[in-house]
Amino acid sequence: PSAIRHFLDLDEIDARTLRRILNAAHTMKAAGKRVPVKLRPKGIADDVLVLIFEKPSTRTRVSFDIAMRQLGGQTIMLNQNDLQLGRGESIADTARVLSRYADAIMLRCNKHKTLLDLADHASVPVINGLTDKSHPCQIMADLLTFEESVGPIKGRKVAWVGDGNNVAASWMHAAAKFGFELRVACPDELRPQEEIVDWVQREKANVSIMTDPDKAVRGVDCIVTDTWVSMGDTDASRRKQLLKPYAVNDALMKKAAKDAIFMHCLPAYRGNEVTESVLEGPQSVVFDEAENRLHAQKAILAWCLGGV
Ligand code: CP
Ligand code: NVA
Repeated sequence: PSAIRHFLDLDEIDARTLRRILNAAHTMKAAGKRVPVKLRPKGIADDVLVLIFEKPSTRTRVSFDIAMRQLGGQTIMLNQNDLQLGRGESIADTARVLSRYADAIMLRCNKHKTLLDLADHASVPVINGLTDKSHPCQIMADLLTFEESVGPIKGRKVAWVGDGNNVAASWMHAAAKFGFELRVACPDELRPQEEIVDWVQREKANVSIMTDPDKAVRGVDCIVTDTWVSMGDTDASRRKQLLKPYAVNDALMKKAAKDAIFMHCLPAYRGNEVTESVLEGPQSVVFDEAENRLHAQKAILAWCLGGV
């Protein structure tokens, strides 16, 4: 295994390290904009993070850029078509070239394999900024949000309601690594990928997959959902039809624990996966969650660059 600290997926990093990164995220948040010297990786002032986007982004783009600056480093932001990648240069060659300049690379891409190819050929840390398979940085921010609103995640109950998508996959990894119960309610046709289901079974994680949202949310500390149509999905009308019974509304929130929180990685589509009243209601912590991308990513970057 490589000694490079890639942040590709939560299943690849040991539980103690992940806990350390999450603790660092709490500390980063408490420290605010001016990150104390002891939390900054050595030599960060000379480090540059390259960010590459094959698809749109608001939160990931801006929070990573600002996270790196607050740590004292610098960034270069590239869209796919800014690179020769858009004209057919291979990801392997791109990885080797960028590794000669940059100190870390964050990639948001369509196919997860592109991320793995980049990491295979890069000699600097590679960070997953979302793929069709997973979104690990999001879940570190979500765990930070859960812990500041509810308390330590270990032993708690979370329900994922809706599409068994990339964000759900990273929640499944997290359940195993951080020791909480996760119930995933989704239509059969939109179940999480078999590879992830097999992995949680092998890990003996407390993850159950069901079709009934009412059953999934009973007594949970947190309900999470996400858009019904992810970037790259082409079957929007079919998905909307299948997912209608999975909308998070006030009636569903009432079935969770009394002080349960509502989370959504955003962007949200009111009237589809969540009602206006839940999204804007007192149990919703979605904007704390968005803010926490910044703090969680400062911790992830600090770990990748040798600190933490
Ligand atoms: N939640 C999230 O990743 O948002 P962006 O697509 O705006 O980065
Ligand atoms: N599942 C969504 C998350 C967006 C942040 C997507 O992949 O488009």
